[in-house]
Amino acid sequence: MSEAPDVHICETGPRDGLQNLDVFLPTHAKCALIDAVIAAGVPEIDAGSFVPPSVVPQFADVDEVMAHALRHKNGTAIGALVPNFKGAERALGAGVDIITFVISASETHNRANVRRTIDQQLEGFRAVRAAIDARPREQRPHLVGAISTAFGCSMEGRISEAAVCRLVTAYAEAGADEIALADTVGYGTPSLIKKIVAAARREAGPEMTLRLHLHDTLGMGLANAVAGLDAGIRRFDAAVSGLGGCPFAPGARGNIVTEDLVFMLEEMGLSTGIDLARLMATREILKAHIPAKHLTGHLHEAGIPRALRSVA
Ligand code: COA
Ligand code: ZN
Repeated sequence: MSEAPDVHICETGPRDGLQNLDVFLPTHAKCALIDAVIAAGVPEIDAGSFVPPSVVPQFADVDEVMAHALRHKNGTAIGALVPNFKGAERALGAGVDIITFVISASETHNRANVRRTIDQQLEGFRAVRAAIDARPREQRPHLVGAISTAFGCSMEGRISEAAVCRLVTAYAEAGADEIALADTVGYGTPSLIKKIVAAARREAGPEMTLRLHLHDTLGMGLANAVAGLDAGIRRFDAAVSGLGGCPFAPGARGNIVTEDLVFMLEEMGLSTGIDLARLMATREILKAHIPAKHLTGHLHEAGIPRALRSVA
């Protein structure tokens, strides 16, 4: 795929997809999953989190997994989530292409998730920006400022547009290369997605890259993705087999399913650069280690309709 696809998809199965799982996916299986996602042509992978293993044991092997992903990336951008400066130092040491720093619009979720206030997290973000800028230009990863619970919080309920906009402004002023609006618990609806994306666009200005990170808790995931498209979003996170959820956000279900998202976009005439049949094959790797109850996806359940198989 030489031309840039119409829609950029980041596969977050190896990160968001695993962080809330009650089984440890062995290191070799994490690496096999990443290899399969790379082989399918996905342009970006969120390959893990640099967090203390005591907080999220699933990422105890993140150094090894990240080194593998970076050795085999074959044009794919390899990213990591970091909750603080120490995580960013580890990510910089590993040599990742993308660092995603996380702050919640909900003060309560922020405290539960990273044990800091929003203002303390913003200070951490500024320190990460400075650490990146102190490096030679060619060694500077792309820095994404993620806003968790941007469309609702299971602890605080509805989240105001003002709370999201405050973080959008702060991230933009602090030098984020991109801002991700995350529906961490999956409370978003199409109208809310359009409203918040439009507000974020106004705050951040026309040049800022925006992405959407969606969960399918209430079955609104793909409708919300379409609402995002209508609002001008061209970058989405999604997880194969609908894995995912935040361990510190009660009630959160899986991410939108990458396979279903790719199918929908390609049917809409929007290219993703992703080979759907190869992406579907990731199921076999997951099935070998993860109980079936965690694996979802309409295409996996229904099969690609015979009349439409040319897209695969
Ligand atoms: N990676 C590895 N170790 C880390 C670390 C990181 N990113 N951040 C802190 N530590 C270590 C410290 O060095 C310290 O070690 P020590 O006890 O040996 O001195 C210890 O962990 C405690 O550090 P502290 O800064 O007090 O962390 P904390 O206990 O307040 O926890 C976070 C804060 C941010 C590390 C933790 O809440 C976290 O990892 N949250 C992320 C949760 C998550 O992944 N959510 C889902 C994705 S949004
Ligand atoms: Zn998520």
